[in-house]
Amino acid sequence: MIKLKKITKVVKKMQKAPIIKSIVEYLNTNPISYHTPGHKGGQIVPPQLKEKWPLGVWQYDVTEIKNLDNLHHPTGCIKEAQNNIADLANAQASYLLVNGTSVGIQAAILALGYNSLIFVPRNVHKSIYSAIVLANAEPIYLPIAFDEKIGIPLGLKVEVLKKYIKKYPQCKTIVITNPTYQGISYNIQELVDLALANGLKIICDEAHGSHFLFHSELPPSALSLGAHIVVQSWHKTLPVLTQASILHLGQNYTGPDFSLYLNLLQTTSPSYLLLASLDSCQTFLREEAKDIFALAIKKIGSFKERIFHLENLELYKTKADQQMDIFKLCLCSPKASGLELAKLLREKYQIYAELAEENYCLLLLGIVIDDLTMNKLEESLIDLNRYLEDLTNCYAPIAQDKILIPATKIPLREAFFSSKEKVSLDSAFGRVCGDYIVKYPPGIPLLVPGEVIDERVLNILKKQGEKYNIRDQIIVVLE
Ligand SMILES: Cc1ncc(COP(=O)(O)O)c(C=O)c1O
Repeated sequence: MIKLKKITKVVKKMQKAPIIKSIVEYLNTNPISYHTPGHKGGQIVPPQLKEKWPLGVWQYDVTEIKNLDNLHHPTGCIKEAQNNIADLANAQASYLLVNGTSVGIQAAILALGYNSLIFVPRNVHKSIYSAIVLANAEPIYLPIAFDEKIGIPLGLKVEVLKKYIKKYPQCKTIVITNPTYQGISYNIQELVDLALANGLKIICDEAHGSHFLFHSELPPSALSLGAHIVVQSWHKTLPVLTQASILHLGQNYTGPDFSLYLNLLQTTSPSYLLLASLDSCQTFLREEAKDIFALAIKKIGSFKERIFHLENLELYKTKADQQMDIFKLCLCSPKASGLELAKLLREKYQIYAELAEENYCLLLLGIVIDDLTMNKLEESLIDLNRYLEDLTNCYAPIAQDKILIPATKIPLREAFFSSKEKVSLDSAFGRVCGDYIVKYPPGIPLLVPGEVIDERVLNILKKQGEKYNIRDQIIVVLE
């Protein structure tokens, strides 16, 4: 009887996960594959993976055959899955993305920013600059607030946006990031309200905020505040496979059918592993999110209280206009740099951080808090605290360079497509950059094509060139 109940529950869940249901139905026909992919449903598997990957992984890696729908023109299980996600998020429509938030951002900027001015806070991710090239948009870069002591970009100030709206009334689109890579959500409600009041279309890069929709104690999602397009890397914070992301259209989105833009960029051979992982995550969130998030928030809250007293490890403290994603732990120490902290965590406790910078290191917690791993983290931090205590040296945060807005000499798109040459850093002063100079993570460019290589930039590159993948040469535009 109990077994029967369990099975009914699984079947019910599958009914709400239409892609998985269709794959299972297909597999139940004992199909003989005379179609792609070449591994033929797991019959031809390279030996190195045969033992490591269960057969089910290969079997689920199907393709767009009968009854499995078509990502570019969905009418069946993919459409149903997208509708389920839109319903869950209260979006006008939602789209499954198989090339990360990057592809969603590019489609969004093609849709709302083509051939026109666009407000771009200078701390945005590199995919936005690529989108600007594709869409022939003209960026107006906005300076952002920056915590110079620790070296964390915070975001756009409301007064700054007001000033720019006044100066560029012809600009009708803005990109915002919510939250930052470090999990900081900054004035988001005020920014969305101001943008809407001034008739701006809002594209929100919510790569790190996919979970915000699911609990009121988390910072707000720009989707519920009124943004027109919101793109979320579900793979970053929710249990789905890497690259699987979602683009939501807000209830107020108007414009041509959005799939036009996505179809321009997305593959015609989407991975059903990615699609199925999004589909199952949707079901899971619909049924479990409320309890899961409530429990995780409670557990993380008490964990933070327990490690709060550690003298040699501090958690980044947010200011009044910031909200921090509770799932991110931004650790600083008066005894060690962020790079050293990450190294110690890795080498002493096999704990791998998401990001290590000069003054802090960032840990990202999962939405289901496993007591064993959380205890291990707590014990490790307590032990690390003791280890740091014994160190005689002190670490004072090194003031970090603000995010610069170098002068643009040639428009981004024109510079991107110009002829280029490689020159040594020593002879690059005053030349026009021909490449994206980006440190990843977090993926915020120091320079983009068309910008002038000035002294400040050169100093940074001479000190930290490796981090930007610059050794002693840089690509410049031939003028
Ligand atoms: C702020 C931000 N936006 C967008 C992206 C791109 O997301 P994806 O990796 O899903 O393409 C990233 C990736 O790191 C990011 O940090």
